[in-house]
Amino acid sequence: MATDAVSLIKNDHRRMEKLFAELKAAGDGDRRALVEEIHARLSAHSRAEETEVYPVLAKAAGEEDEAEHGTHEHREAEHKLRKVRNLIGSPHFGQALDEFVAAVAHHVQEEESELLPAIEKGVGKKDLERLGAAFELIRLEELNASGYDQAAGSIPPGTDDLAESTRDELYRKAQKADIPGRSHMNKNELIEALREQD
Ligand SMILES: [Fe+2]
Ligand SMILES: [Fe+2]
Repeated sequence: MATDAVSLIKNDHRRMEKLFAELKAAGDGDRRALVEEIHARLSAHSRAEETEVYPVLAKAAGEEDEAEHGTHEHREAEHKLRKVRNLIGSPHFGQALDEFVAAVAHHVQEEESELLPAIEKGVGKKDLERLGAAFELIRLEELNASGYDQAAGSIPPGTDDLAESTRDELYRKAQKADIPGRSHMNKNELIEALREQD
């Protein structure tokens, strides 16, 4: 499994695109849980980029304007997602969802074609790995703090054997799976990271 920042960010983009497609196809009853999961994942991803990745983009790659632009687009996407959330059950839901998905698609396209290549050029291979671990650590912390999986996640706590494992057992599994940032993770963070292994 690739653990550099660029691969981790792209993987998370693909995961969110899958959720967008699920939400488009979902009936009224399944919308709320999916919107909550998308909200939690999108916020965690954006915060981790803003905290760890964009500062590197601004410094090492000298792309301050791009970093600012990216942060602005995160705010815009979050605003559009709030509209989606407010329109669950409304006939205008589909239109709001299309607008949100289009805004994220535009941002992801720019990130993958400009921002991430600039970072790849600006920092070395080792630093990309370090940046990947830092990104993943913040992302999982944010995701845990959101508590989305207790409220509406697809895997409620206690329904798989990970929740029954000790931290040491989880750590050994994380070692095998080569999960970045594992030595700084608490039990819940390790569970979340292991569940995300596809
Ligand atoms: Fe991103
Ligand atoms: Fe982004």
